[in-house]
Amino acid sequence: MISTWRKLREKGVIGINERNVMFVSAKNPRRFMRRVDDKVETKRLADIAGIPNPELYGVIETARDMKALPALLAKPDGCVIKPACGSQGKGIIVIDGPLREGWRLSSGKRITRDAINHHVNNIRSGMYSLGGQTDKAVIEYRVKFDPVFGRISFKGVPDIRVIVLNGVPAFAMLRLPTAESDGKANLHRGGVGVGVSIVDGTTRCGMQFDRQVVVHPDTGETLTGITVPHWDDILVMAARSYDVTGLGYIGVDVVLDEKRGPLLLELNGRPGLSIQIANQRGLRRHLAAISALDVAGASPESRVRLAQKVYGESYEGGALAPAPVSGKPVLDVLEGGLASAAA
Ligand SMILES: Nc1ncnc2c1ncn2[C@@H]1O[C@H](COP(=O)(O)OP(=O)(O)O)[C@@H](O)[C@H]1O
Ligand SMILES: [Mg+2]
Repeated sequence: MISTWRKLREKGVIGINERNVMFVSAKNPRRFMRRVDDKVETKRLADIAGIPNPELYGVIETARDMKALPALLAKPDGCVIKPACGSQGKGIIVIDGPLREGWRLSSGKRITRDAINHHVNNIRSGMYSLGGQTDKAVIEYRVKFDPVFGRISFKGVPDIRVIVLNGVPAFAMLRLPTAESDGKANLHRGGVGVGVSIVDGTTRCGMQFDRQVVVHPDTGETLTGITVPHWDDILVMAARSYDVTGLGYIGVDVVLDEKRGPLLLELNGRPGLSIQIANQRGLRRHLAAISALDVAGASPESRVRLAQKVYGESYEGGALAPAPVSGKPVLDVLEGGLASAAA
């Protein structure tokens, strides 16, 4: 295990300690973390800044608020219930629409009114919240994904994660729900992560739990060569999230709605590290290149142009080698991929 870790480090892959010390602690003032740790607060800030996000139907915090729940759920197109202070997809239920009795979940299963009440109470008790403290349940618009992802998603909404350093987008990946991940795109739940080029938003290679995947495990469709629509708008949204939060190192989650276009789903002040695996590249070298840029006073749009230029120079427009092979352990891939990227 230790030698595996050392190997990864040598390949420019950053680990949890390096991330915490060099980026999270150094770039993210603690007093600002609530802006991203509480989804209600993030939505409020996004609304003020005019960043589109899924419409907030309501927030259930107290026992009294529970009375409002039936009205909030009475949406013909469904809704999403999630803990305001949750992470990794925990405690999120995606409701597709009402049934004669109860509601249909995106997995196809039925959920009863009692089960929903019980779930919302669990959210309020803090069952899914970051520090276990009491929480609020957020009820919001259910995103209907852009048809471009129809063939590579399974019963849920894919999201796009962008890592942003000093307001400059660094790495991106597309996360796809699978049968295993139950309507959510989080990788811990078995979602597939696909590396995306910062230059043009084209998908490169995929992984599911530490192994390379070439096709979506449920739909069998090829994962590479898909261009994410509205790519530059997504990057500008990610870059602006820095100005909105004052946090220098964030993971920005964006979803693409078929009618509303890119929507900001949430922000993370301690973004995970598997984006390196999905991209078959370590973050260290690229983050160092971004740190060296002078971006003081630059607009989000000009930071995006800079991001695309620097990424293009480092990775020749995102060309990857070697070609992905299904089932190959990512450690092997990282070595090959990084060796050729460095060459
Ligand atoms: N409003 C929504 N509409 C449809 N799917 C959603 C919505 N909100 C969340 N999801 C699904 O759940 C996943 C996790 O949501 P997110 O808000 O990022 O919470 P977490 O902090 O737990 O990661 C998303 O990637 C998406 O697949
Ligand atoms: Mg998320």
